[in-house]
Amino acid sequence: MGFVHADGYHARVCGGSLRHVHLAVGHDPSTQMTVSFSSIRSSQAVYHRVGAVMVGTHPDQLDLYFEEQEPPRAYNATPVQEKHGHYYSPYQHHVQLQGLEPDTQYYYKCVILKPQDQHEQHEQQPHAGASRPPQRKDDKSLRGNPNINFEEEVLRAQEREEVTVDVDDDGVSTLDEDEGAPHDEDDNGSRRLAQRERRFLNLVYYDSTRAECPPPHKIRRFQTAPPIGSIGKKKNQQEGQEDGQQQQPPSLKFAYLGDLGQFTHSIENLKHLVTHQRSEISAIMLAGDIAYTGYDNRRWDTYFDFMDDFFMIDEIPMQICAGNHDIDKQENDSDIFLAYENRFRMPQVKPAELGTYQGPTGYLDMDAPDYPLPYEYGNSYYAFPYGVTHNIFLNAYASMEPTSSQYQWLVHELEAVDRSVTPWLIVTMHVPVYNGFDVHHHDLQIVAAKQHLEPLFVQYNVNLVVAGHIHAYQRTNNVALDILDPKGPVHVVVGAGGRQCKAQFRTEEPDPWMAVRDATRYGYGTLEIFNQTHAKWDWIITGESGKFRKWLALTCMFCTFCWQDHFESRLMSLFSLQFPSAISLMF
Ligand SMILES: [Fe+2]
Repeated sequence: MGFVHADGYHARVCGGSLRHVHLAVGHDPSTQMTVSFSSIRSSQAVYHRVGAVMVGTHPDQLDLYFEEQEPPRAYNATPVQEKHGHYYSPYQHHVQLQGLEPDTQYYYKCVILKPQDQHEQHEQQPHAGASRPPQRKDDKSLRGNPNINFEEEVLRAQEREEVTVDVDDDGVSTLDEDEGAPHDEDDNGSRRLAQRERRFLNLVYYDSTRAECPPPHKIRRFQTAPPIGSIGKKKNQQEGQEDGQQQQPPSLKFAYLGDLGQFTHSIENLKHLVTHQRSEISAIMLAGDIAYTGYDNRRWDTYFDFMDDFFMIDEIPMQICAGNHDIDKQENDSDIFLAYENRFRMPQVKPAELGTYQGPTGYLDMDAPDYPLPYEYGNSYYAFPYGVTHNIFLNAYASMEPTSSQYQWLVHELEAVDRSVTPWLIVTMHVPVYNGFDVHHHDLQIVAAKQHLEPLFVQYNVNLVVAGHIHAYQRTNNVALDILDPKGPVHVVVGAGGRQCKAQFRTEEPDPWMAVRDATRYGYGTLEIFNQTHAKWDWIITGESGKFRKWLALTCMFCTFCWQDHFESRLMSLFSLQFPSAISLMF
């Protein structure tokens, strides 16, 4: 179904049906979860629809009911090219589930209430959210505009059928093998340079027309976090017990992705993550540059179509931070971060204070944006505990100056962390403080983060700082203000998520703080935490079939990391690794 435009934009038409379901943790992930999803395009709706989620601990007994606590969000944007018409987003529904049990698997179903049912549903169902009357949207002036992308009437009829709350199926669509993706034919690690160059530069967008629309009322599931300060059960323990498998030792496992996009190599990463990690990952941390829309807001819809096809972020919460490609300023407009703020709902400190771009009109170079941009609170920066970890997400494109709201909030947040409860302190932001590659060294955001934030990371003994932005993988040794120091954080760059991976080394001889650097392979990281003192980091190359080496472990001030960076052995000669004496080799 669907169609493919001549410009390569692969639209999937689902008739305004409920889709793009994704999760994010609440302030306390052991008892709260936010379910977000899209419904009808906002340009079409006379009334916005009320979104709700039915929840239970058994798929046949969804006996909890939550309505969205705020009216659904929508935004519009001036198009880059007039031929595309003015862009109106689908309504974005964010339903906050509260009062859940820790470490518990829940099943849920997203529903959109018919306009005539909204009042009845409010009276019939116990619900946690405050009911709100439907609000009329005056769109008469839009209907005569030929530039508006109305979907076909036949699909609107289909949409009217789909808004009923009956369970119609629990099926899943299938995803074909990506025939267009380059395959590794050499298993001995001798792939030729020409083949690798092709891999670096392949920027084919995902074609979402190759899969069906997700069933609108599919029953999905998620697992709440363990109580704050504990590891809890292994995430897949319940499934293992059902299968008669042995109980596994407890652990928490997070996946770290950066600069993901919706390209051939993004597919490789998500496929690997879904195939090998989905049952174990508790949360996905996405270090910015999310959709790579290229100034075309329609690509936010194709991005979520892409994510729909991997059945992951509707089961596993995904936490995001802002990257330069998420600014989304249109050439003819001054709005910024509209999709980033409206399509996601992170555990916010306060409601967003989102301003507009005050610089010159016209084109904004996303690779060198102004600093700072007016975006406080909301999805801009926030923090949450998860088991024995405390996770802080920062926005390098908002102000990081000591007088800024973000900086002052960060100091307060760092001071408030009780390391006896959450010993693991992890920061995720888009720009790296340490950069061994020959790009982005003069970014205003990197300069500011290095000057203002790194001293805080050192002062408050942050364990791990994860960034993207550089389309590469890099891990430092423990370092504090450019000096090797076992008390300093380890900085990791995970920007090899799918966008062009081609950065050159800044110097042939790596800096003393550099442990690993590579800009030739795509991949993602996992952090598995076993207890208050031991954890393991894995860097996983995807779409590869060569033999890998596994390495090393080190002891840091508070906790013990075990590092595993997987590379083909033939690539080892590219690296000149140096390790401080505090690190003990395990392999
Ligand atoms: Fe970036």
